[in-house]
Amino acid sequence: MAGVPREQWTSKSGFILAAIGSAVGLGNMWRFSYLAAENGGAAFVILYLAATLVIGLPVLLAELVLGRGSQRSPIPALVHYGGRRWKPLGLIFITSGFLILSYYTVIAGWALRYGLAAIIWGFDVDAAAHFGEVASGWDAFAYHLMFMAITVFIVVGGVSRGIERTSLVLMPMLFALVIGLAVYAATLDGAAAGYAYYLSPDFAKLLSPSVLKDATGQAFFSLSLGMGAMLTFASYLGRDIHLPRAALIIAGADFAVAFIAGLVVFPLIFALDLSADVSASTVGALFITLPKAFAEMGQIGRGVGVLFFAALIVGALTSAISLLEVVVSSAIDNLGWPRRRAGILLGAVIAAIGAPSAWSTNILGAVDQVANNIFLLGGGLTLSIFVGWVMVGPIEEASEGATGVSWFRSWRNLLRYVVPAILLFVLIYDAIPSTFKTIADLF
Ligand code: TRP
Repeated sequence: MAGVPREQWTSKSGFILAAIGSAVGLGNMWRFSYLAAENGGAAFVILYLAATLVIGLPVLLAELVLGRGSQRSPIPALVHYGGRRWKPLGLIFITSGFLILSYYTVIAGWALRYGLAAIIWGFDVDAAAHFGEVASGWDAFAYHLMFMAITVFIVVGGVSRGIERTSLVLMPMLFALVIGLAVYAATLDGAAAGYAYYLSPDFAKLLSPSVLKDATGQAFFSLSLGMGAMLTFASYLGRDIHLPRAALIIAGADFAVAFIAGLVVFPLIFALDLSADVSASTVGALFITLPKAFAEMGQIGRGVGVLFFAALIVGALTSAISLLEVVVSSAIDNLGWPRRRAGILLGAVIAAIGAPSAWSTNILGAVDQVANNIFLLGGGLTLSIFVGWVMVGPIEEASEGATGVSWFRSWRNLLRYVVPAILLFVLIYDAIPSTFKTIADLF
């Protein structure tokens, strides 16, 4: 291990904003809205909220406890509390980081391209054809590289001077943008129809394993759980922070932004009568339907569209940062690499791994499913068993800096029984079979 003292956040609110920055991203806008559209609107939203509270929140607190308690990156953190035989789980976490970031910056690259193009030329009315042209191939690869370069630049700047400072500026901007867009969307003619679709549940969909899988998977992805990202961020914290409170704020802000993003997306779609396009939704939904809406709305649409993509880019950037930080901090801790070398080298490797996703949206979709359905859900399952059953004294560790919390025992029971049971059910009945099917369909 390197002899330099471990980096620290400058302030508690700096950590909280950075963690919210990690959570709020493409998941809240791109992923959340297409899942909600696909799974019966409000039924999905209700299930997703439940998954956030029952599964997301306990696992988030578990990661924060492991990170702050060990003051280490994922592999040594697991070894610290569980012994050397837990090292493979840490390696799986790092692999998830490579996998997710490799396609995350492809999608973020689409957003970057759409945003810049809208400023210069506006939006293309034939949005589906346009998406087909730019979402894969050299174009997509170039913007993917550009986005990765920006991410590397910030991570190389360090925890407080790079990541924290960026979040302090970008997150308030993101909140303002999303709220402003929702207020504007409320003034549209079709807004009521959009709200009706988004907010009135189709209860028939509530109980299928596949919706349950989508809701749990979304809770994990959106809260950046299951691969040690929140663990890594918490490892730069002092002992005096109230972790349960931090977890509540992070999960609350993450849900709020997803919910408000829905208040932007659905009125827009219904105002322009594009709901048929959404029900045929794929990874491209947000990048086809909304640009079409913006194009049909003329100059106002162009302005609104630029702001929308600005929000998407900002959210994606602070999330990509956290994904890269997991692998960078691991290289610093385990291999003794300097931060600068780790950031540049690993960023380049991950960009190369993302090439197939940049060349085929089908491959991108498949990698997204493997990462979420197998790696994150599996990682979350193992993590909850680890903190619930293996780690000694998780409640004592969680109590440091947190007086007056009465639900620590319930927290541990959730991790011991409820979270593993639900995750096992979801993995066996839907996540594993549906992922194999997607992979088979590729060939
Ligand atoms: N939470 C981010 C989003 O919603 C994506 C993300 C960042 C992530 N770090 C992660 C997902 C770690 C899983 C694990 O866009």
